[in-house]
Amino acid sequence: MYTLTGLKLKNPTILAAGVLGTTGASLCRVACEGGAGAVVTKSIGSTPKTGHPNPSMVKLDCGFLNAMGLPNPSYPGFLQELETAKKDSDVPVIASIFGGSPDEFKEVAEGLLPGKPDAFELNVSCPHAEGYGAAIGSNPCLVEAVTAAVKDVVNVPVWVKLTPNVSDITCIGNAAESGGADAVVAINTVKGMAIDIESGYPVLGNRSGGLSGKAIKPVAVKCVYDLYTALEIPVIGVGGVSSWQDAVEMMMAGATAVQVGSAVYDRLDIFSEISIGIEAFLKRRGYSDIKELIGLAHEMV
Ligand code: DOR
Repeated sequence: MYTLTGLKLKNPTILAAGVLGTTGASLCRVACEGGAGAVVTKSIGSTPKTGHPNPSMVKLDCGFLNAMGLPNPSYPGFLQELETAKKDSDVPVIASIFGGSPDEFKEVAEGLLPGKPDAFELNVSCPHAEGYGAAIGSNPCLVEAVTAAVKDVVNVPVWVKLTPNVSDITCIGNAAESGGADAVVAINTVKGMAIDIESGYPVLGNRSGGLSGKAIKPVAVKCVYDLYTALEIPVIGVGGVSSWQDAVEMMMAGATAVQVGSAVYDRLDIFSEISIGIEAFLKRRGYSDIKELIGLAHEMV
């Protein structure tokens, strides 16, 4: 067993927000068939949202570009899915939520409490959501206020998911910590665009979006490395993790656990594969505890 912000995980791999997290049944599949140590839901807001126009997700050579636009049924519409996920899966279920102000975050968190999420992940980092997401997550005062507002009304751990699209992510991480965050999650997607050269149009309906997958792993590793130095609270690493080697790298940078997003589209059992790979690595290298890996790269100076 592995402890993260007080939650008991069977392994340090977690389903990232936004991937297979829209129904209770899909969250259960990731936990039961995929072997994830915990799962995070799709981000939920206060009112139903259909999201950005199609195409809202495209596969590129180096990863995925998306501008889903935070589609979700709102907290009253998601409550039953959360209850199903909690009832049928044997792992912690983390509710990802978003809002445009501290009060709206608070409303959504309170609205989901009857579904008994094991923790909340505050999405202050979507790169293409007017008034939401990175509009909040690039302002340290707002990040602190949003975190404090949610901490005020819940008694489960609160994680804050950070955007890499800022000049200094540690300043935002510090703000989350000051607001009472129990962990930060780094990183959300990196702002990006792709253009179809025959038509000359950007390929996404929203024109620009967020890049995930292999291309962003070095960006994520650097953010995790810097946050590990700057903060006291755990850093959860996410961004381009698609193998146990990537997970070990993230942990050596300072991640206490890793989230997996894009790679889940290739294979659901990536979580089991990563945790088995980490265990074999620990054994081969003579480590007695996975904790010995966390932040190891910082000692190599
Ligand atoms: O890249 C992202 N896309 N990050 C988010 O936080 C939300 C998602 C979406 O729904 O557009």
